[in-house]
Amino acid sequence: MNRFEGRVAIVTGAAQGIGRAIADRLSSEGAAVCYADINGAGVEAAAKEADGGRAMAVACDVGEPDSVEALHRDVIGAHGKLDVLINAAAIVPFVPWNELTFEEWRRVMRVNLDGCYLMCREASELMRANNYGRIVNIASNSIFAGTPNMAHYVASKGGILAFGRALATELGGDTITVNSVCPGLTDTEGVQQTPHKDAFDFVEMLQAIKGRGVPQHIVPAIAFLASEEAHWITGQALAVDAGMIRW
Ligand SMILES: NC(=O)c1ccc[n+]([C@@H]2O[C@H](COP(=O)([O-])OP(=O)(O)OC[C@H]3O[C@@H](n4cnc5c(N)ncnc54)[C@H](O)[C@@H]3O)[C@@H](O)[C@H]2O)c1
Repeated sequence: MNRFEGRVAIVTGAAQGIGRAIADRLSSEGAAVCYADINGAGVEAAAKEADGGRAMAVACDVGEPDSVEALHRDVIGAHGKLDVLINAAAIVPFVPWNELTFEEWRRVMRVNLDGCYLMCREASELMRANNYGRIVNIASNSIFAGTPNMAHYVASKGGILAFGRALATELGGDTITVNSVCPGLTDTEGVQQTPHKDAFDFVEMLQAIKGRGVPQHIVPAIAFLASEEAHWITGQALAVDAGMIRW
């Protein structure tokens, strides 16, 4: 499939994990992809390995307005437009409630929720210019499960879902869709660095379909919502978690 031929996309959190996997898929299906991440060396390496030859890499802190503006300037400078935004950058913490300080709460909110807002603000301005856009925000099925040891993360992801619904209303008139994908536990570099890595067997018991989630399981749903075909779908949240959550 070459669903993204002629399209320009930004994927945040593209140095590793789900972000990198979706950036690679968009790139292999014809998009000119900007791999964006606070890990500049990581996105340089990922973009270099990507299919398609037009991938670029930009070091960006999504929680920092100047950094987000500079990222969008770079993309416009290179490609003149923006069609697709995938917000995958996030901090995935493991902090029990009785240890959750306000400082830690803000650290996660700044990246996960403020970052999503800042990216959508800049990107939607560019998309409006062409009366076309696809925004897919990566939330989490933890917002339905109420997963422990990450109350601030769960709150940030719930915010993304609610924000996406409101933004879909605001941007519908500009033919820009905004949807959320809610993965279940997925084996990524980020998860492997936290105690969540020991939760796979427990989560598998709750899944309708058995097995271990990997980024490639999440990618097709994101790619569909980012494609032209998904033009009649906006303001939605899709759980991609082997049927763990049914709502
Ligand atoms: N892996 C899971 O189990 C799981 C489950 C549900 C939802 N998600 C969501 O999917 C997305 C990807 O998860 P993952 O497991 O691949 O994550 P990960 O931790 O492996 O990768 C996250 C990436 O985001 C980048 N990042 C962190 N802070 C940043 C910032 N300030 N600016 C720019 N980039 C920044 C990191 O450098 C990293 O490359 C996240 O939004 C996560 O919340 C993951």
